[in-house]
Amino acid sequence: MTLKDRVQDLLGQVAGMQAQNAEELEALRIKYLSKKGEITALFNEFRTVPSDQKRELGQMLNQLRQQAEGRLSEMREAMESQIAKAERLDLTRTPDPIQLGTRHPLSLVREEIVDIFSRIGFTVAEGPEVEDDKHVYGMLNFAPEHPARDMQDTFFIEKELGLQKPTDVLLRSHTSSVQTRVMTSQKPPIRVLCPGRVYRNEAISARAHCFFHQVEGLYIDKNVSFADLKEALLYFAKEMFGPETQIRLRPSYFPFTEPSAEMDISCDLCGGKGCSFCKGTGWVEILGCGMVDPNVLEACGIDSKVYTGYAFGMGVERIANLKYRVKDLRLFSENDVRFLRQFESC
Ligand code: PHE
Repeated sequence: MTLKDRVQDLLGQVAGMQAQNAEELEALRIKYLSKKGEITALFNEFRTVPSDQKRELGQMLNQLRQQAEGRLSEMREAMESQIAKAERLDLTRTPDPIQLGTRHPLSLVREEIVDIFSRIGFTVAEGPEVEDDKHVYGMLNFAPEHPARDMQDTFFIEKELGLQKPTDVLLRSHTSSVQTRVMTSQKPPIRVLCPGRVYRNEAISARAHCFFHQVEGLYIDKNVSFADLKEALLYFAKEMFGPETQIRLRPSYFPFTEPSAEMDISCDLCGGKGCSFCKGTGWVEILGCGMVDPNVLEACGIDSKVYTGYAFGMGVERIANLKYRVKDLRLFSENDVRFLRQFESC
C-alpha cells in the first residue's frame, strides 16, 4: 500500500470513528494521534517521500490530521453536553447536604432559665447595655463614691474625646439596671426576668471575661417574703439540675438587697460527697439573691411600707458550665463551630 492509499484508508477510518465513553475516545486519540499513533507515523514517513509528491501528500496528511482532531473534539463535546444534561435532569440525585446552624449553648441555657421561671409567672424585660450611673448604681442604693463601682470593674464611657474624668455613661455591669427601669415605669405587682449581656473590666482568662451574660429576676407585691424567694429558687434548681438537687443559702451582702444571700446547689457530680469540681465541699455557688432593700423601692417610687420584693441574679455562663462542664469560658465567645455544634441535642 502506498502512502497515499494509506492516507485514503485512514481518512475513511477517521470519518467513521465512534466512541461510547471517555475511555474509548482516549483510545482513539492514542490509536491515531499520539506519538506512536498511525497518523503520526505517516508524518514520520513523509520525510522519505520524493519531493515532487510532497506537496500533494503533505496537503492530504494535514487534512487527515485536521479531520481526526475535529472528529475527536466533536465527540468529546457531544459527550460532555450529554453528561451535563443528564446531571441537570437527574431528579433522584441526593442533594448536597444543607448545613444547618445550631443554637448557641448560652442561648439554650438562657432560654431554659426563662422557660422555667415563666412557668411561675415571670415575663421578660430588656434594657440598654449602654447605661447611666443612676440606673446601674444610684437607684440601687450604691452610695456616691461607693467602692462597688470599682468592685464591679465598670467600663466607663468618656463623653468627649480626651476627657479623662469618668462620666456617668457606662456599660452595665449587671442587669439589675433593667430592674430599676421596670420599677420606675411599672406599678406592682411586678414579676420580671432580665436576661442580657453585661460588661466588667476583667483580664480575659479561662475563668473570667470582659463580658458575660446574666439572668436576674425581680418580684414585687404585697407580702412577698424570704420564704417565697427560697421556694422559687428551690423550684428553679430542681427544674434546672434535676429533682435530687438541694439548695443552701449563705448570708452575703449586696447594696440593693437586705437581707442578702448567695445560693449554692448540691454538687451533682459527686452527689454532695465532695469532689474536685466542688473543691471537696459538696456545694457549688450559682447565684446571688435577697429581699429588695426598701431604699431601692423608694428610689424607684414604690411605697416600701406597702410593698416588699425579692431579687436574684445568676450568670448564664456559670449555669452552662455546671450543665455542660465547659472548662474554658473563652470557648463561648470564640465561635468555633466544632464547639458550638455539640449542644443543640443535649
Ligand atoms: N446584681 C448582682 C450581680 O451582678 C446579682 C444579684 C441580683 C444579687 C439580685 C442579688 C439580687 O452580681
